[in-house]
Amino acid sequence: MKAEQSAIPDSDPFALFDGWFAEAQASEPNDPNAMALATATPGAAPSVRMVLLKGHGNDGFVFYTNAQSRKGEEIRANMQAALLFHWKSLRRQIRIEGPLEEVSAQMADAYFHSRPRKSQIASAASDQSRPLEERATYYERVAAIEAEYPAGDIPRPPHWTGFRLRPRAIEFWLDRPGRMHDRRRFTLSGAGDALGWNSTLLYP
Ligand SMILES: Cc1cc2nc3c(=O)[nH]c(=O)nc-3n(C[C@H](O)[C@H](O)[C@H](O)COP(=O)(O)O)c2cc1C
Repeated sequence: MKAEQSAIPDSDPFALFDGWFAEAQASEPNDPNAMALATATPGAAPSVRMVLLKGHGNDGFVFYTNAQSRKGEEIRANMQAALLFHWKSLRRQIRIEGPLEEVSAQMADAYFHSRPRKSQIASAASDQSRPLEERATYYERVAAIEAEYPAGDIPRPPHWTGFRLRPRAIEFWLDRPGRMHDRRRFTLSGAGDALGWNSTLLYP
């Protein structure tokens, strides 16, 4: 069998992410920005759920949520997380790991108010991850907010916010024939001016 070079170049991992993300946006039927978000309790018990990527760049990857949810409580206690994209039809995976920081109130306001009014109300009425005795209670809370704010934007609840994951590692996985898959892991190392990304291939 003839050896084949890695199809994942040792280049800027953010540019590589942008290329794969653009291809996913062009081809995935639903939510190409959906990603699994893994958090953990201070006792190291992990939990994972899907969220939507709502911004990204060289400074990190941003998602929005309710900070009083299960994930919010885990994040408050342990400001580290991992993200996972799996684009099934492209047969590609990207794993991202690093510390989290909360986005500014201005950024959270701007994103909250960019959402449709119904979505603003639905999230303001939701005590995300808390027990709900019956769905009627949720509908009543939605109706109460609609009555309080009959038109336009509603105020962002202070616990509805965003988090930015600043990556320390980004790993790309590409399906190859015969399950001889292609993996490259980038890690951030050094400090100050010497801070930079190194990459290595990994056995699949
Ligand atoms: C495709 C998809 C996208 C989602 N996006 C978000 C999101 O951006 N923010 C969010 O808080 N929950 C989102 N959810 C719901 C979460 O998966 C989860 O049910 C919720 O945030 C509560 O999680 P927690 O109890 O671990 O805090 C999404 C679910 C799916 C299936």
